[in-house]
Amino acid sequence: MSPLSLAGKKVVVVGGKSGIGLGIARAAHAAGASVTVASRRITSVAEDPQLADFEQITLDITDEAAVRQAFDTIGSFDHLVITSGPAFGTWGTFMAADMRGVRDYMEAKFMGSWACARYAAPHLRPGGSVTFLTGGTAARPKLGLAAVVAAFAAVESLSGSLAQEMAPTRVNTIRPGYIDTDLWSVLSDDERVALNERVRTTFPARHAGTTEDVGHAAVFLMTNRYVTGTVLEVSGGENLVPSVF
Ligand SMILES: NC(=O)c1ccc[n+]([C@@H]2O[C@H](COP(=O)([O-])OP(=O)(O)OC[C@H]3O[C@@H](n4cnc5c(N)ncnc54)[C@H](OP(=O)(O)O)[C@@H]3O)[C@@H](O)[C@H]2O)c1
Repeated sequence: MSPLSLAGKKVVVVGGKSGIGLGIARAAHAAGASVTVASRRITSVAEDPQLADFEQITLDITDEAAVRQAFDTIGSFDHLVITSGPAFGTWGTFMAADMRGVRDYMEAKFMGSWACARYAAPHLRPGGSVTFLTGGTAARPKLGLAAVVAAFAAVESLSGSLAQEMAPTRVNTIRPGYIDTDLWSVLSDDERVALNERVRTTFPARHAGTTEDVGHAAVFLMTNRYVTGTVLEVSGGENLVPSVF
């Protein structure tokens, strides 16, 4: 059996219906797992044929009771990955008129990640794992993104804490750099092409990150029995070069 096999395992990806989460769900399925994807809405297979391979369950990570109910419904499983996050631009800036933006962002990213891990914990089988998802801004703060930086850094700290609290369940975080997903549809097509080109020519890996790149990293974290308490940067070397954003 391949050391990266998930045959016979059940994986739950919160946020797994699109973007990075979908890349992780597909990679886990390709490795042999049965995969449940959870997010706020059920999408029909007619609407998105890529979802045919997955069970879907509704869950709003900002609603603690709904999170608890969803994991009670899912029952026993092996690996939890939490990728969901608020839409681009919904965070509040430091000097915004009030603190609603940062409170909502922390609620959806930090408290939501906490809630998923908390209510999944009783259902995780021996040998299981939890993987959180942050982003390069956790380590490379950008002007105007204080809420995102703080929320990501808090998730990374939580991940280290839970590697101890939940042991021997392993707990890690993937910190992706730029990944070309629909999160970036806030840019025009021309702007997006130009950004991808800047990434391709600047990042040491010489290509824009894909959801497959993150999926591969997630399967590694689910299957390697000796990796826990780590933050795995999957950024094509973005951390080594000047910002292209
Ligand atoms: N793409 C990048 O370059 C990049 C880089 C670094 C970090 N990140 C971070 O990675 C995360 C995911 O990014 P992405 O590009 O995969 O975004 P995406 O394509 O917009 O996917 C977000 C997913 O989260 C779900 N979701 C949103 N709010 C939710 C909630 N309250 N409860 C449950 N599910 C919820 C959405 O489904 P529903 O609408 O059905 O709920 C969707 O499936 C974000 O936190 C982002 O900041 C992205």
